[in-house]
Amino acid sequence: MDLYEAMLNRRSHRFYKPDMPPREALERVVNAGLWAPSGTNAQAWEITVLAGKARDEFVALCSKSFPYLEPLLEKAGVPEKGRQMVKGFFKDLGGAPVVMAVTIYKAPDPEMQMANIQSGAALMQNLLLAAHAEGLGTCWMTGVLYVEQELLEFLGKPHQQLLAITPIGYSAKEPPVPPRKDREVKWLGF
Ligand SMILES: Cc1cc2nc3c(=O)[nH]c(=O)nc-3n(C[C@H](O)[C@H](O)[C@H](O)COP(=O)(O)O)c2cc1C
Repeated sequence: MDLYEAMLNRRSHRFYKPDMPPREALERVVNAGLWAPSGTNAQAWEITVLAGKARDEFVALCSKSFPYLEPLLEKAGVPEKGRQMVKGFFKDLGGAPVVMAVTIYKAPDPEMQMANIQSGAALMQNLLLAAHAEGLGTCWMTGVLYVEQELLEFLGKPHQQLLAITPIGYSAKEPPVPPRKDREVKWLGF
């Protein structure tokens, strides 16, 4: 798949088919994630891939974040119907058969921590684009961080930081294309 095609057409998927993607495809996605750049090439990250019972238990914990999220959505003016949709998604992550969780190591100072966060974000984006190239849907999610510690305990990584998770699987519904804002891009010295 052409890289620009992947970057422009990747979408966040919130409805999935129950079909399990091939293990080899998931491994290629993980490998693409691990080839992301990282500050001082520290690769201060870990990926956990969850399926079956582990996935179900993890998703049940993820759904506990919605009560924290709901008042914020209300405050942000998200209408009742939208809030219900988000609730449904958080309940079962759209039925995705696999979930990937990205954790990062805690650095001793904020600047190094920022490098770890940005490195983890690069890994996430690689995962998303590689999954798209494999014909799989994903949805980068930080909304579950309200229950971060519980999720980390479940993953057996209580001293790390949970960066984000993504469901991954075959999409069951073509998502809308959220428009991009016309943010200023400054070209200096041209
Ligand atoms: C850091 C980050 C956190 C996100 N967290 C969530 C989330 O918790 N739940 C969710 O449904 N989508 C989440 N998203 C997906 C965004 O809503 C989505 O990327 C945005 O609306 C643009 O849509 P697109 O990805 O289809 O282009 C997140 C995306 C990013 C980059």
